[in-house]
Amino acid sequence: MDILIPAERIAERVGELAKHIQADYEGRPVTVVGVLTGCLLFLADLIRRVDLPIRVVLLQASSYRGNATTSGELRLTIDPTLDVKGRELLVLDDILDTGKTLGQLTRRLRDLGAASVRSGVLLRKIGRQTVEFEPDYVGFEIPDVFVVGYGLDYNDHYRHLPYIGAVTESDLLTSG
Ligand code: IMP
Ligand code: MG
Repeated sequence: MDILIPAERIAERVGELAKHIQADYEGRPVTVVGVLTGCLLFLADLIRRVDLPIRVVLLQASSYRGNATTSGELRLTIDPTLDVKGRELLVLDDILDTGKTLGQLTRRLRDLGAASVRSGVLLRKIGRQTVEFEPDYVGFEIPDVFVVGYGLDYNDHYRHLPYIGAVTESDLLTSG
């Protein structure tokens, strides 16, 4: 597997994003909304570097995938008792691909009465977006290749890798 972004570079960039976030919220409390499962590593590393009063809530989003590169129908589970009314939300996801997930999720969170909804992604794929959506914080822009590691998966494999790797056809066939 080709290493697209090494662990040290990710750590450095996450630190930069943390600084921007900290400055933007000016000491106000923020509710970090993590989109499972891909956000896990990004969220864990980022929130440890942001010095603000932080709450963390997690949501499940999944799309049925025919294969690695075609996303299927989106399923977003938002617990109706989720306490977001009047709160400043920062939604975190691993990657912005078509934009469907974050587009739909941020709209629904606004409808639930959030005071503000910002979003951050570690990665943004160039040339894939079909839904108009601008994330507030982006770690890296990457070419249209299938990537894994640092939370991103292929059939739930590879999430634990400390780097972002670009997967080849043969990696996918042998991953079991
Ligand atoms: P979107 O709704 O199309 O923006 O898709 C975002 C979701 O698709 C992410 O949260 C990932 O779970 C998944 N995804 C998109 N591209 C990749 C990739 O290259 N590797 C792993 N997962 C991906
Ligand atoms: Mg995901």
